[in-house]
Amino acid sequence: MRATAQAQPNIALIKYWGKRDAERNLPAVGSLSLTLETLWTRMTVEFDRDLEADRLQLNGESANDMLPRISRCLDLVAGADRARAAVTSECNFPIAAGLASSASAFAALVVAASEAAATGSDTLTLARIAGAVSGSAARSLYPGIVLLTAGDKEIRVETVTSDWPLELVVAVTDESAKAVGSGAAMLRSAATSPFYAAWVEQQAQDIVTALDAVRERNFSALAAVAEHNCLKMHSLTWTSRPPVVYWNEVTMSCIQTVRKLQADGVPVFFTIDAGPQLKAVCLPQAVPAVAASLEATPGVRRILQSGLGAGAHRLSPG
Ligand code: PMV
Repeated sequence: MRATAQAQPNIALIKYWGKRDAERNLPAVGSLSLTLETLWTRMTVEFDRDLEADRLQLNGESANDMLPRISRCLDLVAGADRARAAVTSECNFPIAAGLASSASAFAALVVAASEAAATGSDTLTLARIAGAVSGSAARSLYPGIVLLTAGDKEIRVETVTSDWPLELVVAVTDESAKAVGSGAAMLRSAATSPFYAAWVEQQAQDIVTALDAVRERNFSALAAVAEHNCLKMHSLTWTSRPPVVYWNEVTMSCIQTVRKLQADGVPVFFTIDAGPQLKAVCLPQAVPAVAASLEATPGVRRILQSGLGAGAHRLSPG
């Protein structure tokens, strides 16, 4: 009745922003992401009939604010009549700062809970459950470059390829938790941004363009569509009422750093999620130059680096 699983966060190149059905947390648009390697969340789930309530320890401290979502997720995996669980989570990167910590947390949780309860559920079933709790978490069940397709009733998730060695360099500009979470911000964008309908309408074409670029290993084509899609997503948050601006001045300086690298012929592009960190995607030979330039950008606190990694998996013996 006990298991430990590890999952890595994923970074979307074509973003999920907007819900088709808020109650079931179904995304309004498909998305395309990179599952990372060196950043991780490890979750241990132990079901225990003697426990009266679920418990959560996050990096050694009890974390009751996250407990309702954890409990809901455990119900979805193991059934509402399940034993209560002691859940322990460890994470080696900043939480809730736009580094997709909820994606790795819920991806690891569904695998650990399913193994602990011996449900025998397959990966897509677990991805759908993780996605019902945190939309982007569904993608962390899968390795490499991952496509999420948004259907009317359910999502599909699959790996497009694990065979293109893209690298991610993250410039951390601020490690504090964000003021407006992605779930609330995307509902606000849908309700108030004048650009929301155009965003939804254009997403399928952005995905096709990105998939073609991946198939052809055409880095500059992928760069163009990924930056365009990222800036459209942030245009939605900026034009929401009240507006949500996830960037700080260092985020903007990092964009300029990427622009200078591109002008020098370095294969790199940026993306930014619901937080102020800049994520630079590059080819392996560009990692030293990209990391050095971002590290030297005034205000950058630290650099994280990762290649592409595996989907969520059980750690044995766990
Ligand atoms: O899955 P959520 O609710 O944390 O939303 C993720 C939103 C973005 O990270 C900004 C985009 C994405 O596709 O991951």
